Amino acid sequence: MKHLIKTLAGFCLGLFFVSGVAAQNLRVIPMPAHAEMTSRTVVLKQQPVISVLSDDLSGEASFLAEQLRGQGYRVDVARRGKIRGDILLGIDPALEGREEYRLTIAEERIEVKGGSPAGVFYGVGTLLQLLENGDLRCGEIHDAPRYAWRGYMLDESRHFSGEERVKELLDLMARFKMNRFHWHLTDAPGWRIEIKRYPRLTTVGGIGNNSDPDYPAEYYTQKQIRDIVAYAAARHIEIIPEIDMPGHGTAANRAYPEYSGGGSEDYPDFTFNVGKEETYEYLTNILREVRDLFPSKWMHIGGDEVAFGIEGWKTDPHVRALMKREGLTDVKQAERYFMHRMTDTVAALGRTLVGWDELMDLNVDPRSSLIMWWRHDRPNYLHKALDNDYPTVICPRHPLYLDFVQHASHRVGRTWDGPCTLQDVYAFPDSEFGRWKVDAEQQAHIVGMQVAAWTELMQNRKRVDFMTFPRLCALAESAWTCPERKSYESFTLRMEDVYRLLDGMGIYYFDPRDPERHTEPEGPVFRKKEQPKADFKD
Ligand code: ACM
Repeated sequence: MKHLIKTLAGFCLGLFFVSGVAAQNLRVIPMPAHAEMTSRTVVLKQQPVISVLSDDLSGEASFLAEQLRGQGYRVDVARRGKIRGDILLGIDPALEGREEYRLTIAEERIEVKGGSPAGVFYGVGTLLQLLENGDLRCGEIHDAPRYAWRGYMLDESRHFSGEERVKELLDLMARFKMNRFHWHLTDAPGWRIEIKRYPRLTTVGGIGNNSDPDYPAEYYTQKQIRDIVAYAAARHIEIIPEIDMPGHGTAANRAYPEYSGGGSEDYPDFTFNVGKEETYEYLTNILREVRDLFPSKWMHIGGDEVAFGIEGWKTDPHVRALMKREGLTDVKQAERYFMHRMTDTVAALGRTLVGWDELMDLNVDPRSSLIMWWRHDRPNYLHKALDNDYPTVICPRHPLYLDFVQHASHRVGRTWDGPCTLQDVYAFPDSEFGRWKVDAEQQAHIVGMQVAAWTELMQNRKRVDFMTFPRLCALAESAWTCPERKSYESFTLRMEDVYRLLDGMGIYYFDPRDPERHTEPEGPVFRKKEQPKADFKD
């Protein structure tokens, strides 16, 4: 991983020095690493032929054809080797990076060559944006991402989005070359993934959401999940499921109270019972079904905020018996015992563990895990991750949690160290590395970055839209484009095309050009007077 990151950093720097000024005006988000464009415009004919030089690229050719048809072209895809088409897709072994591509635009032909199908897909994405934005000029673009992990997290437990909406979000992620969808499927208000062996997880645990504890059960069937995973894969997006444990287990514990480890006054039934052997069997069975649904090598098992509801373990006879048997002197050690066993389970299922930054307190092995650093007020945890060689995804609350407000006038959302503005997200992480004293060697352990839509206060599509866009676009450019090529001024200009697109799609985004244009949507009305505290992160 270190080697790959160094290669990409070199790529960015090397190309920066030869890049043309015209590239700054390229109407594409995220901004490519390098572009040499002329002023001569190319017009794609109305009936272009796409030809592919490798069987592996039939998916990319179909995607391009479908998108071009959406733009009004009548497209043919030629069978391999038959015709040299107007648009040629191929693999170029000389491109070292998997996601690297070269897009050559000439009057006689457009060529997209990638280091792999993913690279071709991103080249196709750039071509489509140029066409759509009326900026198809002769020239060459040579591009590769800054980070391997460019993520969006959606919390489905607090409020449920549903299949159609998730597919729409995946489309938008793909458009901006984002490649990791972190799916937060379980938490205190509701359990959202069908597990065949334990049907009550959804029929009982799926009831309720953050604004209405009695809302009829909402969840994804296994068939829907398979469809969504395939839909994402066709867009080179990997879905990382999160099954949060041993805390945030309230919904599951409503369904199967026999595995509850209790909680605290504020967070009742918050944990799984780490003292019962049956709990390990239960969770392993769940994770096995999860593994069979998600081909990603990563499996996220949370591990955050367990301390909120750990009180119950102190008196639970099973946890006490475990502690005695294993010589554990406090409940934190019981948490460590649990996480080590679950890490082994994840490995036995052929997956690599992902967890929140609390996991490092439990000495989980950096060789078999990936850490998500989220507590922005604890940069020492970022240092701990980077200094101990944990592959790390950076997703600090400020500025990357989308449940924070994005404008000083907004009232519905969190504020902590101020709003998280579009510019804050855009400037991240380069603005912070100095402040956090993260040096180049430490940076080599950062595999990527991610924004997170926690949905406590996003009860409907309109609010998810408003909190996600346009900040998702800023994250996408920041995660793809090397720092030397980033310019907020240029980004703001290029966003004009995106606002038009979002208007056309009916997305209710916050408009930083005119904060009054789309007024802040109302937050949820809570059916219960008191909102359960477990639904709020600290
Ligand atoms: C988190 O926000 N509890 C990871």
